[in-house]
Amino acid sequence: MSLCLQRKSIRKFLDSKVSDDVIERLMMSAMQAPSATNQQPWSFVVIKNRALLEKLSAISKGAWPLKEAPLGILTLYKEETNRPMMVPQDMAAATQNILLEATNQGLGSVWIGVYPREERMEAIENLVPMEVGHKPFSLVALGYPESQSHKKVTHRFDKQKYSVIE
Ligand SMILES: Cc1cc2nc3c(=O)[nH]c(=O)nc-3n(C[C@H](O)[C@H](O)[C@H](O)COP(=O)(O)O)c2cc1C
Repeated sequence: MSLCLQRKSIRKFLDSKVSDDVIERLMMSAMQAPSATNQQPWSFVVIKNRALLEKLSAISKGAWPLKEAPLGILTLYKEETNRPMMVPQDMAAATQNILLEATNQGLGSVWIGVYPREERMEAIENLVPMEVGHKPFSLVALGYPESQSHKKVTHRFDKQKYSVIE
């Protein structure tokens, strides 16, 4: 089955660490995303620090999976680029690539929504050191899934949701 059809949000993780080799694959995949005019507006912060992950788990109601995740990835976008209007699409593509590579590596993951919620972006800026001119876009909580089988992927395929023009 393709990675797209295997991926699901996983919010509970084992204590096991994620190796640096696997982290590098996640970063390679993120940076392989398409972007408008190939502007690649992204940079990433890999967060292994448990105290910081716990603080980040309080940025919103939905951020709780970070509380016990062994790994978090913060995606950042550059404010000044060729095509600022396209930056959210570029960043979403990079975030999705992380989720798909995580699935490929046997990791569980979940996208924690940040952009465009200013209060979440600001809370993160107050917790994580980042280069001037860069802003938080998304967070991904990652780790080996607590239970491989407890949750099945729900397939949402629906023929009503597309049309074909011959
Ligand atoms: C932009 C975006 C923001 C999301 N924010 C959160 C979040 O803050 N917390 C969370 O637990 N899941 C979050 N999710 C995951 C969705 O809840 C999840 O993708 C959706 O319920 C479908 O489930 P699936 O990923 O297992 O297919 C987010 C997903 C997207 C694309």
